[in-house]
Amino acid sequence: MAERGPLPFAVLISGQGSNLAALIDATHHGLIAGEIRQVISDRPAAGLEHARRAHIPARIVERVAYPGRIAFEAALADALDAANIEWIVLAGFLRVLSAAFCRRFASRMINLHPSLLPKYRGLDTHRRALAAGDTLHGATVHLVTAELDGGPLIAQAAIPIEPGDEPQRLATRLAPLEHRLLVAVTALIAARRLTATPGGIELDGRPLTQVLTLDQPPLSAFDRLYERRNGQ
Ligand code: GRF
Repeated sequence: MAERGPLPFAVLISGQGSNLAALIDATHHGLIAGEIRQVISDRPAAGLEHARRAHIPARIVERVAYPGRIAFEAALADALDAANIEWIVLAGFLRVLSAAFCRRFASRMINLHPSLLPKYRGLDTHRRALAAGDTLHGATVHLVTAELDGGPLIAQAAIPIEPGDEPQRLATRLAPLEHRLLVAVTALIAARRLTATPGGIELDGRPLTQVLTLDQPPLSAFDRLYERRNGQ
């Protein structure tokens, strides 16, 4: 089999881009055997600065610049195609993508969602977990399908909800764990060990039957490298 180089991927953001920064750092240091070819934001997001500093092509594709959703998504898809990427990582990308767009990039797009899916699809997840009196909260990385936050689950990380938690505090405590989770899953994909088809997700050539966690192989190996690098 021909030797395959670093996995070319794109990262889509809408906000601060702290997850993008973690992906850039992990890629730069070889933890993720990939190359971020393109960063796209749907608004003038602060996070674009991380890409610019790392000399990664970054651009804004804004919904308001197009007459409708179809034209907006066509521009987004064209930008992704032009970058010749194999995978797309949605890292805090806040725009809901149409079924047609999700189908076009089916089996090669993951999303980071701030809840323990299937709980709390959509927005405002921290407040909703607190309001429900949950004792655990967390983040999920899942494959993107046409169903909003409803694609097959890949990996999850959980934290206990503490007395005195409010949404912002919970989000702040969860953020480092989100970075670790997204980096570890992206590393697994870049190592070509996690693959997806319309039939499902495979790990090392076998159907994925359990949601992955950071404390178990194969993610634990990547997470140890991440922790070593970030001094945790
Ligand atoms: C993360 O909490 C992610 O779960 C949510 O948006 C946030 C993105 O943060 N969907 P950042 O832009 O990566 O800092």
